[in-house]
Amino acid sequence: MVNAQDILSLCKRRGFLYPSFEIYGGVAGMYDYGPLGTALKNNIIDMWRRLYTLGEGFIEIDSETIGPEAVFKASGHVDEFADKMVKCKVCDEPYRADHLVDDKHPNAGALNEEELDKLIRENGVVCPACGGELSTVEEFNLMFKTIIGPGSGRVGYMRPETAQGIFVNFPHLYRYNREKLPLGVIQVGRGYRNEISPRQGVIRLREFNMMECELFVDPEDKSWPRFNNIKDDILRLLTNDGRELEISVGDAVAQGIICNEVLAYFLWLTQEFLEAIGVDGDRLRFRQHEKAEMAHYAADCWDAESLLSYGWTEIVGIADRGCWDLSRHIRFSGADMTAFKRFDKPKEVEKDSIKPRYDRLGPAYKSRAGKIGKIMEAADPATIQNGTLTIEVDGEMISLGSELFEVVRVKEKISGEKVIPHVIEPSHGLDRITYTVLEHVYTQREGQTLMKFPPAVAPIKIGVFPLMARDGLDEVAMKIEENLRLGGIETYYDDSGSIGRRYARMDEIGTPWCLTVDYQSLEDGTVTLRERDTTKQIRIPYAGIFNVVHEALCGEDLSAFEVASE
Ligand code: GLY
Repeated sequence: MVNAQDILSLCKRRGFLYPSFEIYGGVAGMYDYGPLGTALKNNIIDMWRRLYTLGEGFIEIDSETIGPEAVFKASGHVDEFADKMVKCKVCDEPYRADHLVDDKHPNAGALNEEELDKLIRENGVVCPACGGELSTVEEFNLMFKTIIGPGSGRVGYMRPETAQGIFVNFPHLYRYNREKLPLGVIQVGRGYRNEISPRQGVIRLREFNMMECELFVDPEDKSWPRFNNIKDDILRLLTNDGRELEISVGDAVAQGIICNEVLAYFLWLTQEFLEAIGVDGDRLRFRQHEKAEMAHYAADCWDAESLLSYGWTEIVGIADRGCWDLSRHIRFSGADMTAFKRFDKPKEVEKDSIKPRYDRLGPAYKSRAGKIGKIMEAADPATIQNGTLTIEVDGEMISLGSELFEVVRVKEKISGEKVIPHVIEPSHGLDRITYTVLEHVYTQREGQTLMKFPPAVAPIKIGVFPLMARDGLDEVAMKIEENLRLGGIETYYDDSGSIGRRYARMDEIGTPWCLTVDYQSLEDGTVTLRERDTTKQIRIPYAGIFNVVHEALCGEDLSAFEVASE
């Protein structure tokens, strides 16, 4: 297996990835994408986007990356989004406590502080840098805090996931979707996590790229329309009770291993996507989280893990977030984030309802009275205790005496009921996925590096060369190159060095085809087209070359275009 250092040095040399701020010594956990890396990443995004928008009919948004504190109090990140840290008592170096004992426990990430402390002490783990004694384990919150506006301003946070931008827009998006579920919304963008000690190339970044989908579904209907089409396909699963299975999607749901069809469908779709962009199916599995390991919002979660030189690594998390996020935003903002589920026939019901006394709330609570009143109206009268109603407003518990409201009996005909949608979330770590593709397509052929990118994600689709940079060969090659490029196909023109060296340069960056203009081209209008993986060459006419490359990109066999060579 290739080692990460070889990949990272290839990436730096050929322009896929550069350590950020290198001229100032760099910053751990920060990388920039070079020209080829940017193209590769964009191609991966395009394929993912097409799968979710054109394939599934989902919609895409682009929300802010900084948010006010209230959003992340509601989401739970301010209070709960933390990793376990130890520091060296001698040199002060911080470490992720679970990473220090990774080789001493099958799933150290699922251990609590006491368990980690015990494991560290029992195994005599010391500071890897200086051998010093380690502190006890403590929690470290991963949120990047900032101030919005001048002066003391308003506390804000860089988003740790794009998901919250989708949740807070749910009422708009639900209306946009003509008030129907399921509603799938995707977002591609940056997330920020102040990682304790990122040491693994682009696997753990402090500023990273995500592709997330939040799929809002009826809480009582987690079936999926296209499930039957894919139910016989096989997934490789590692369950949280330790079983390793190769099982059909249908059987995994029927046996209760994956808890519902929607979640299972998106495990399948994730596998389809990853294999299409070059992740090796034999180095891919889905691992179910242990209860203690699950994020604070998740009811069930499976990670797509790829086998890298770093070991098995999470690259996609597919979680059933239940009603966690919308319920929390309802509680903290008072906004209505429900969906309306229509009955087959309207029903008449009588019910108790809280009617705020706005004439008294106003003087007592001034500008907050409106918001408090709205939360009271939505509150359940059954929660009134000894005449007092207690509600939560912006994270603060407020007790309201009976002089501030009435409980009234109301009769109403209802055509349906409000439900809080559940969310299924496939969340893709784009940098880890991109890196996985780099490791998985890496091969060596006769001592030369060959990157076997699937053509759709290859940063450059075709190298265009004149055999010699003279005799008019270069002019023909430049014209062909320009036609392809202006037609939207990424090209690379190269007229320096031997043809063999030029092929090797293209193989190293995974260019699927190379086209060479030679002396015969001037006579009969044909060129050679060389295929990267087989090194097979065919002669084809260069009139209509754009169509040929286009067909090749669609996976067509090019032998139909071949003309007999003289
Ligand atoms: N939204 C998923 C995550 O934060 O990992």
